[in-house]
Amino acid sequence: MRKDIRATISALGGYVPSNILTNEFLSTIVDTSDEWIKQRTGIKERRIATAEDEATSDLAASAIRNLLDTYQVKPEEIEAVILATATPDHLLSPASSLVCKKSGLSNAFGFDLNGACSGFLFGLTMGASLIESGRYRKVIVVGADKMSSIVDYNDRNSCILFGDGAGAVLLEPTTENYGVMDSVLRTDGAGNDALLVPAGGSRLPATSETLQNRAHYIKQHGALVFKNAVESMATASGEALDLNDLDANEIDWVIPHQANMRIIQAVSDRLNIPFEKVKINIERYGNTTSATVPLVLWDFAEDFEPGQNLLITTFGAGFSWGATCLRWGQLIAKKEQFEYALPESVTI
Ligand code: ACO
Repeated sequence: MRKDIRATISALGGYVPSNILTNEFLSTIVDTSDEWIKQRTGIKERRIATAEDEATSDLAASAIRNLLDTYQVKPEEIEAVILATATPDHLLSPASSLVCKKSGLSNAFGFDLNGACSGFLFGLTMGASLIESGRYRKVIVVGADKMSSIVDYNDRNSCILFGDGAGAVLLEPTTENYGVMDSVLRTDGAGNDALLVPAGGSRLPATSETLQNRAHYIKQHGALVFKNAVESMATASGEALDLNDLDANEIDWVIPHQANMRIIQAVSDRLNIPFEKVKINIERYGNTTSATVPLVLWDFAEDFEPGQNLLITTFGAGFSWGATCLRWGQLIAKKEQFEYALPESVTI
């Protein structure tokens, strides 16, 4: 589709809690081992929010503050915030309202979007549409999840996979040939039972029985999710390439959702895109759900050059999945750094 205005990523921010949960530590609480986890998932460690007062809105606000502290943009200029999350602070009210308050975004409206591991991709497409419509000029899309709040640390099938974190991007309009292209977004409720938190919502409100049954934690059919993830991410990526008239060999970088290294490898094989072009940080953060894709973008932003093509693809609970292409543009200027070095004799 031809667009006069496109949305381009003009600034990025990220945040992960400082507390590291290693495979070695997990193997002291469930029957697993560092070797098994590394071999079967690629994960070495993940970050866990342990501070009592650190909820999802705090993670998201920290990522946004990192963006605002790094780049030359003022909080009051931001008009809209889309918070992708599966772990809001409360069922009511939206965590995005706390995020706006904690980040000092006094002129923005915000809303929560739950697309599980595809939430950021869905939010990116929605945010781009707000910009393309001409109604908004500065939109933040932030993905944040405190997965440790819904992980059952008695269940070795799932507790090894997840971590906490947040990543944010600023979208702005451009008339240059940069920015978010067309997306392929899909959901299929047939996958609902394969990955869910059964209780605590309107279907099964909290009771002493749901607590006893540990029904407020993630239940996952790992092998079924794995098979569907590979198939769906590869198919959606192929469709997104076709939609945007791109060949796989024109893609400079692939940004896949990071749930399992073997899923990522299988998707790259199916797309026939060399693994060196795939950006990976799963070994350090595990699966941070909505935060995964923006954390990868933030981690590797220095490697992307204006004009390069990125392919983003995700899969998660629902099932929900999709892919989009984007042409990397110019980032806005960073704030001035403290550049001169102190004389060697001076210590602080
Ligand atoms: N340590 C040691 N052994 C384990 C562990 C563990 N942590 N977990 C499972 N096993 C065992 C199983 O019990 C099983 O043993 P058995 O053969 O004696 O029964 C054996 O390992 C094989 O189990 P599988 O489930 O077949 O193991 P698999 O290789 O598939 O790995 C895993 C399991 C890592 C969960 C994998 O299936 C996976 O990554 N699935 C996808 C997860 C995913 O993508 N989640 C998306 C979340 S997205 C969102 O929206 C939140």
